[in-house]
Amino acid sequence: MASFNGREMEKKKALAPNKTLSEIMALKRKSIPYVRYGHYFTIYGLVKYIPPPVGDLLRYGVLKFYLKGISKKTWIKDGVTISYPENVSIGSNCTLNEFVFINGYGGVEIGNWVRIAHRTSIISEDHGYKRRDIPISLQKKKGKKIVIGDDVWIGCDVKILKGVKVGKGAVIGAGSVVTKDVPNFAVVVGNPAKIIKYR
Ligand SMILES: CC(C)(COP(=O)(O)OP(=O)(O)OC[C@H]1O[C@@H](n2cnc3c(N)ncnc32)[C@H](O)[C@@H]1OP(=O)(O)O)[C@@H](O)C(=O)NCCC(=O)NCCS
Repeated sequence: MASFNGREMEKKKALAPNKTLSEIMALKRKSIPYVRYGHYFTIYGLVKYIPPPVGDLLRYGVLKFYLKGISKKTWIKDGVTISYPENVSIGSNCTLNEFVFINGYGGVEIGNWVRIAHRTSIISEDHGYKRRDIPISLQKKKGKKIVIGDDVWIGCDVKILKGVKVGKGAVIGAGSVVTKDVPNFAVVVGNPAKIIKYR
């Protein structure tokens, strides 16, 4: 899929902090990416909830076309959502289980042999919220890349926030909120996630 980084840059510049609410709304109206994401969400939506194993193969086929990268033997279960697909890459032999959510705004890079359990969210963006005179939804977003190393196991209902690097072989316990980098082979749990041991 074509890269839209140029247009994203324009949009970021447009949402500079000295603009008024009406100026920002006008610029937003111009830049809402209906077309560029509309066809992706429509086509992916057709296969999103088809049961495995056929559904997994169809989702892989659609994502192969839209993601920055996805390698062989990676299984995408039903209900998985990926936004900003052009910034997301997934290695080989991975499994993204049911209802995993990936926001690729700031970039998401997933290595090989990664297991991601159901309902986990990987969110590489935050809304700006400093100004009180305009709604949060209209303030400039902040994105920072998330990198997940090879052979990582991420439990169910985990949240991984922007800028985090998860080292190879790490384990993230169910329900954890990961706000800081995780060293190689560490086992982390809790909110915020802390190291309890190494494998
Ligand atoms: C992280 C995990 C792998 C650790 O398992 P383990 O090595 O057997 O560790 P233990 O069960 O001995 O737990 C060690 C300590 O961490 C705590 N702990 C374990 N998992 C925790 C979690 N997810 N959140 C908070 N605390 C947790 C335990 O209560 C224990 O605390 P204590 O020492 O005060 O008693 C496991 O608890 C877990 O969360 N697995 C994810 C399961 C899952 O989501 N599977 C999806 C299917 S793929």
